[in-house]
Amino acid sequence: MIKLFIDTISDVLSNILGDISSSFDKDHSVNAEFGNPNKLISKRNKGWVIDGVRALDMETSRRNLCVVAGSGKGKSQNHVFTSIMNCISSSMVINDNSSELSATLPYLESQGVSTKVMNLVRKENVYINPLDGCNGNVAAMRKIAKTLMGNAAKENDFFSISGEDCITIFIQHVLESEPRINANLGNVYRLILEFQGNPKVIESYMADKASDAVWTKFKALAGNSEKTLKSITSTAISALSWLGDNPVLADLTSVSNISFEDFRKSPTCLFIQSPASDSKFYAPMVSLVFQSFYRYAFSRLPEENDLDIMMILDEFSSLIDGLSDYSQIISNSRKFRIPQAIFLQDESLLSPYKELKDNILANCYVKCYYGGQDKKAFELEKLLGSYSYVDGSSGQTKSRPLMYASEIREMDDEILVITNGQKPIKVRTKPAYKQSKLRKRLAMELDTEVQEEPMDYNIQYIDLSPYKDEIKDKNVEPNNSVTDGQGTLQ
Ligand SMILES: Nc1ncnc2c1ncn2[C@@H]1O[C@H](COP(=O)(O)OP(=O)(O)O)[C@@H](O)[C@H]1O
Ligand SMILES: [Mg+2]
Repeated sequence: MIKLFIDTISDVLSNILGDISSSFDKDHSVNAEFGNPNKLISKRNKGWVIDGVRALDMETSRRNLCVVAGSGKGKSQNHVFTSIMNCISSSMVINDNSSELSATLPYLESQGVSTKVMNLVRKENVYINPLDGCNGNVAAMRKIAKTLMGNAAKENDFFSISGEDCITIFIQHVLESEPRINANLGNVYRLILEFQGNPKVIESYMADKASDAVWTKFKALAGNSEKTLKSITSTAISALSWLGDNPVLADLTSVSNISFEDFRKSPTCLFIQSPASDSKFYAPMVSLVFQSFYRYAFSRLPEENDLDIMMILDEFSSLIDGLSDYSQIISNSRKFRIPQAIFLQDESLLSPYKELKDNILANCYVKCYYGGQDKKAFELEKLLGSYSYVDGSSGQTKSRPLMYASEIREMDDEILVITNGQKPIKVRTKPAYKQSKLRKRLAMELDTEVQEEPMDYNIQYIDLSPYKDEIKDKNVEPNNSVTDGQGTLQ
């Protein structure tokens, strides 16, 4: 309490002193100046934390935050840990790619936030089927196929487009014609794998099960020459094998056991964990989970009492391949109350979005820049503008940039906060590890009584044996079964 009082007094004093000194230094012919941080951030606010201590209000947080800083500069310490522990009256979805952020979990639980961990390497208690909510929405199915394909093939050539079509057809099929328990990517993978090895089995299965719409598309696909078809299915298989051949991922994506609706009703926090050392491999999976969230979030406008779902997109660059429509997402996030915080090592990492990069940045109302970035420092020097002052020794009026690029580059424990259409702000940061209150919160241990046992659920595969038997009975030898010896489809 006393500390809070001292902090507040020191904030006020430093602002007054700052204002007095700047009014001595400057005349107003070229009058760039820093704004007052207290107009933007406060310890009482419940939104994104900007300097380790003070946060944006919710209205401003909904207009999104972008933090740009090289590795080890303090993004996690100043903004991510601190925001997670500050935004406890909202729900959150967090890309926790080094699993360090879940140190906040015991504190969140102690504050009544329901916490969930989806670990992509070992089963915890969260399963999410990215196909949920896609039934009847071919555009959403195609987006999933695109995410999968984008990871496997960089070029939009005939085979990657056809591979995408192939995945979409089978996604549509399992969603329309199979029970929910089988409508997942693991089964899509197995069906395509079988289609490549034993086309007759899958033709017979599709003839029996597929809807008219899917059957027409499937026939067109199957009508390709044998060689072309093999190349298409190979492309599709290689786009899906990272999931289909990975038992943990196939299981984790086979069903959903969380309701996104809960995130709107009571504070709920989902951590999506993947090993940082293998972030490229797991990136499409993390993107698919975020896509599921966005699909849900955009499915209806929140009601007045619904909670915000705050999205913490740490290491955003790893998610770009899977979030090709992010410009649209961030343009609409305010209306749907899903505030975005994106963390980047460098703005140029947004270049895969091409001309939409500027739209994404323009939709981040608040941007924080750290020192150390050479090119950005020059841009920031221009952006900050210049001011004129009367030189004490010569009495001449001189002008200088508010900050030289070299000064920006050398900032150490200070950051520049640029808010659309407002004066820039320079603030000193205080990382979480230097704040004893936050250190204690991060050192808390989970109450073992409330700790949930990990859930062990296995994917249920579609039973293709009737169709295999049928082919055998017709005495048509299935050619080169790829699944033989590795456990055939049951
Ligand atoms: N517990 C700690 N004690 C001392 N220094 C720490 C601690 N945690 C992080 N740091 C330091 O804080 C700096 C910022 O780290 P971090 O916020 O994780 O960077 P970023 O997220 O930008 O990569 C790093 O230089 C790191 O060494
Ligand atoms: Mg970090």
